[in-house]
Amino acid sequence: MNDLAGRHIVLGLTGGIACYKAAELCRGFVKEGATVQVVMTEASEQFITPVTMQALSGRTVYTSQWDPREPNNMPHINLSRQADAIVIAPCSADFMARLVHGRADELLSLMCLARPIAQVPLLIAPAMNREMWAHPATQRNMAQLAADGATILGVGSGFQACGETGDGRMLEPEELLEDIVAFFQPKVLSGRKVVITAGPTFEALDPIRGITNHSSGKMGFAIARAAREAGADVAIVAGPVSVPTPRGVRRVDVKSARDMLAATQAEVPQADIFIAAAAVADWRPVTESDQKIKKDGSGSAPTVAFTENPDILATVAKGERARSGALFCVGFAAESHDLVKHAKAKRERKDIPLLVGNIGPLTFGQDDNQMLLVDAQGTTELPRASKIACARRLVAEIARRLPRT
Ligand code: CTP
Repeated sequence: MNDLAGRHIVLGLTGGIACYKAAELCRGFVKEGATVQVVMTEASEQFITPVTMQALSGRTVYTSQWDPREPNNMPHINLSRQADAIVIAPCSADFMARLVHGRADELLSLMCLARPIAQVPLLIAPAMNREMWAHPATQRNMAQLAADGATILGVGSGFQACGETGDGRMLEPEELLEDIVAFFQPKVLSGRKVVITAGPTFEALDPIRGITNHSSGKMGFAIARAAREAGADVAIVAGPVSVPTPRGVRRVDVKSARDMLAATQAEVPQADIFIAAAAVADWRPVTESDQKIKKDGSGSAPTVAFTENPDILATVAKGERARSGALFCVGFAAESHDLVKHAKAKRERKDIPLLVGNIGPLTFGQDDNQMLLVDAQGTTELPRASKIACARRLVAEIARRLPRT
């Protein structure tokens, strides 16, 4: 993935044990295609060396405002003018206080103060002991930094290096990376609520067995991530899958189609967009045995009778909000052949404004996908791409079809 291709990030380190995580974050930025310029405070050098950060970023590290390498001797100006973002990770309690007061007596705080505030965003990943984090002074400083235009990336919770347990840990590098990639995405769904179904359903035969399918949930989860990146409030109603929940997405786990319908109906009354990406089982066994169905020794297999499951998408699309146009419904069609014909027919049958068609065997469990968009105007074939790239494109396509608020 190259989610930060072409971006130049200035990564600032301040004094804290979480500096060891900054090494991994730096690697993550580079892997995603960014160039990284590391700037370190004197205190941070107690925790990690500039040599490590130089090796990982591929650039010499700046530690002093008097760095003679800069012909004009103004690293605070030069470094901040080149940046697409300044990320302070870890940001100590002391450094937050320094930023609040506009202190400028060492390179990193000087550079933050000198940055063109409208063009160069400042992102802060606090890291400190739980008491320091909870202290009114820190909370006040955080609120002031946000009011001054900084983005606070939040903190993690759990076991701390000091031996105490609570809030204040720096987020893990992969969490920070996900949030920083999200930060750069266009906020085309800002203020919207999105509900997504994802994964297969599991229709129980008995306490041990059931009927399910090969859906991995990856596409639905990628859409959830892309919608959250676009600024939406996102809930995902997920069948049994082992995909990690994207940052900032609320997940409701369900098993059967009927559970999925109930959970979805609880979410959609507040939603603006409903995306049915789940591979819902069309049928379920008529009866679910309380006990394991045992072999009876006769050699004959039991007969299982099936009944049709509710169609979640069709039910939601027929609801009041969808009829009034307040809920924009998107369906998926996984077909094995004649994709255009089946996808067009399915969109009309389900009476929805947008349907995404794909060839099931070519997408189930894969990391990439090829989508065919079908709306009232016709069909658009999109190029094969990673599921997250497809999801971002789908989010953009949905956003431009929404009624203006
Ligand atoms: N869907 C749903 N509830 C169901 C079945 C399907 O919400 N019980 C949704 C899927 O999430 C998808 C769309 O409907 O967005 C299409 O599902 P699919 O199973 O491919 O279509 P069907 O209507 O079942 O048609 P067919 O079995 O003839 O392909």
